[in-house]
Amino acid sequence: MKVAILGGTGEQGFGLALRLAKNNKIIIGSRKKEKAEEAAKRAKEILKQRDIEADIIGLENKDAAKEGEVVILSLPYEYTLSTIKQLRDELKGKIVVSIGVPLATAIGDKPTRLLFPPDGSVAEMVQNVLKESKVVSAFQNVCHAVLEDLDNPVDCDILVCGNDDEAKRVVIDLANQIDGVRAIDCGNLEKSRIIEAITPLLIGLNIKYKSKGTGIRITNLEL
Ligand SMILES: NC(=O)c1ccc[n+]([C@@H]2O[C@H](COP(=O)([O-])OP(=O)(O)OC[C@H]3O[C@@H](n4cnc5c(N)ncnc54)[C@H](OP(=O)(O)O)[C@@H]3O)[C@@H](O)[C@H]2O)c1
Repeated sequence: MKVAILGGTGEQGFGLALRLAKNNKIIIGSRKKEKAEEAAKRAKEILKQRDIEADIIGLENKDAAKEGEVVILSLPYEYTLSTIKQLRDELKGKIVVSIGVPLATAIGDKPTRLLFPPDGSVAEMVQNVLKESKVVSAFQNVCHAVLEDLDNPVDCDILVCGNDDEAKRVVIDLANQIDGVRAIDCGNLEKSRIIEAITPLLIGLNIKYKSKGTGIRITNLEL
């Protein structure tokens, strides 16, 4: 599958690129093509050291959005709207994965505080703008440091929600490709309000207990 990651030059997108490159073609997107190419080169080198010949390229966000079958939005909350408004045509009919968290860093405050987006959640905001895309919410509760640590499996459940069952199934299958991950269908897109709100709590725990990257597990659940 061709997976584009807009803003994949940043921490979370780069970690996802490393983890998903084993089984997919990855297109890292950026506002600058050279920056995307540099990130793609860096990711390929990291994987090559592990004998993985990855197919990763770097493109400008618009071209990356055009190329991807699944498009992950790995952008800070405050820049998500301005970015996707220009990409409605490229993202039409596609699966768009919202991983954003409305952290108060967007207004210069702490990452342990949550903002309340007018649409309810980042994912719903994205769906309200990209009316002809199938938006799926996922990957908010896994830390980039854990994704980038290829020596260890990712000890985390990935909570997935969305209004299109088929699109959700595709994203669940993608997430389950990551060693250690269990992806869980949590229902419709509105559930993203709850899922996104967990992340500032995890960030607070990371700070309080000096953890590299806490995650979550839902217990007593047979899938
Ligand atoms: N970091 C984590 O551990 C983590 C965990 C869970 C969820 N998330 C979520 O994942 C998303 C990405 O997080 P991150 O930590 O990777 O973010 P980040 O590193 O701060 O930014 C990601 C990318 O966004 C692009 N960007 C920056 N300013 C922009 C602007 N004004 N307009 C358009 N694009 C801009 C940059 O790419 P270019 O300069 O190449 O364009 C940057 O590399 C966020 O929504 C975050 O809430 C992160």
